[in-house]
Amino acid sequence: MVIDFMIVKEFNAVIVGGGLSGMRSGLELSKKWNVALISKIVPIRSHSGAAQGGINAALGNHPEGKDDTPEKHAFDTIKGSDYLADQDAVIFMANEAPKIVIEFESMGAPFSRFENGKIAQRPFGGAGFPRTCYATDRTGHILLHTLYEQCIRQDVKFFDEFFLVDLITVQNCVSGLVALDIASGELVVFRAPYVILATGGFGWIYKASTNALICTGDGVGAAFRAGVPMQDCEFVQFHPTCLYGSNILMSEGARGEGGLLFNNKNERFMLEIAPKAKELAPRDIVARAITTEISEGRGFDDAFVHLDLRHLGADRIKERLPGIRDIAIDFANVDAIEAPIPVHAGHHYSMGGIGTKNDGNFCETHLKGLWVVGENACISVHGANRLGGNSLLETAVFGRYVGRKLLERGLPTPLSLNELTSAEKVKIQEIKVLFSQWQGNTGKKPIEIRQNMGETMSKNVFVFRKEDELRQAINDLKQLRDDFNFVHVPNASSTEGRKFNSGLIRTLELRNLLDIAEVTAFAALWRKESRGAHFRTDYPERNDKEFLVHSMVIRNAEGQLEMQTKPVKLGSFEVKARKY
Ligand code: FUM
Repeated sequence: MVIDFMIVKEFNAVIVGGGLSGMRSGLELSKKWNVALISKIVPIRSHSGAAQGGINAALGNHPEGKDDTPEKHAFDTIKGSDYLADQDAVIFMANEAPKIVIEFESMGAPFSRFENGKIAQRPFGGAGFPRTCYATDRTGHILLHTLYEQCIRQDVKFFDEFFLVDLITVQNCVSGLVALDIASGELVVFRAPYVILATGGFGWIYKASTNALICTGDGVGAAFRAGVPMQDCEFVQFHPTCLYGSNILMSEGARGEGGLLFNNKNERFMLEIAPKAKELAPRDIVARAITTEISEGRGFDDAFVHLDLRHLGADRIKERLPGIRDIAIDFANVDAIEAPIPVHAGHHYSMGGIGTKNDGNFCETHLKGLWVVGENACISVHGANRLGGNSLLETAVFGRYVGRKLLERGLPTPLSLNELTSAEKVKIQEIKVLFSQWQGNTGKKPIEIRQNMGETMSKNVFVFRKEDELRQAINDLKQLRDDFNFVHVPNASSTEGRKFNSGLIRTLELRNLLDIAEVTAFAALWRKESRGAHFRTDYPERNDKEFLVHSMVIRNAEGQLEMQTKPVKLGSFEVKARKY
């Protein structure tokens, strides 16, 4: 439909993001509704495909996992979260887990199998039982392809290479969004009473990350600009084993299969740090241990420790960990069958994200009609530290949940067409003005600003944090925001010039990343305690009295960041000290 030179596409719901969360919501909703799924890339290239190790579910298939239950899964997750996770959401996820894995199996997902034909499970960090179901070390890849097949079968309407620019709101209600059609350069309005954001993580606020380059928080930035708070963004997961030189993920599955960590004195340092769980302590603990070994001079070349798999033998490595073996050969020239892999901690995942209400419904935000799922959302099932294998699980469980919930709610009474079109025209106009401004500016290139942002975040808001460094990051980011106001983007103002304009796309991504980086540093400065992945060397203890709350950051009318808090949902499991 073209209204006054404005392209409008109308749906019952619009999903942004072609990873597991977005596709699982789309699959559910498209059973009854006319649904669009927009994605800035072809969905099977989504970052869900990079998840290696597996998906957690208390199936009890492993000989040592027979006594496992969803309740024990929930307990491990809550303890792993350093008690910041909302317990009702975690219990829901753990109860749904076996059903969601069996659903994937019935869709044809080729999981690895035990001899008896049951889905194979392996031990993972922070888990009391081997409960991580896997497909060698390519679990995300097979789940993504399985789900894509189902979406194609059900005729989900995909709009590939459409970039979310901004949400459109009318009276604190979302009414759709504006997307840039990357191929044609057109700005397109997707009109719908429900928008579901499933845009994944935002690892590229850092200089290096295990995240794909596409993980730039596009949904988070759009929601934040529309006034939705960002929740728990100080909790950033640093994966303990990233490949030295490239930061590529070396799956926790490698330690699950028995891989060991050594320093330059040939010591298994995890024996002292976590005598029971050892290399399979939760990620925050292992990441800190590795970073400490390196900073105290017990690393190799002051840069990495060794992940040793040699004792597993060639057959097991080839059968269970073929992907990481290939990657280590290709990117570090190390064959894990013959030599230890050089690894260090690096950015991997964001526990925080778009704030949710959690008032009995999960995934719903304070902006009416806006729902969020997957890594861009803070539901919060991971609290201060996520356990490996719970992120694939979260995407599918809550993707399906959102779909079912919205179908149950039904479609609201439509807003008046006049109100809608005027809000849409205002938004399109605003974006066009922004693009012309960017084209006319004579300031820095986006890449310079992005590099500086990554440098300050990786230096000052990393595994160990303290006040003066956090303040330094905040000051640097303020300067970068000022620079961004003058960013120069060639050819942004005409439709023709916007065709495949990757400079413009990078700038739109940077606009999101800068907000998220600032919120992350701001929340990390505010939280004067150490909990889960957030470790303050100046406040090394957990402080439940003052900080057993979710941080909720908004930008106020004066343009300043402002901290609000939200209670944590407790009740089923007592808050205790964590010991592993
Ligand atoms: O280590 C891994 O395989 C990553 C899994 C995860 O982040 O859940």
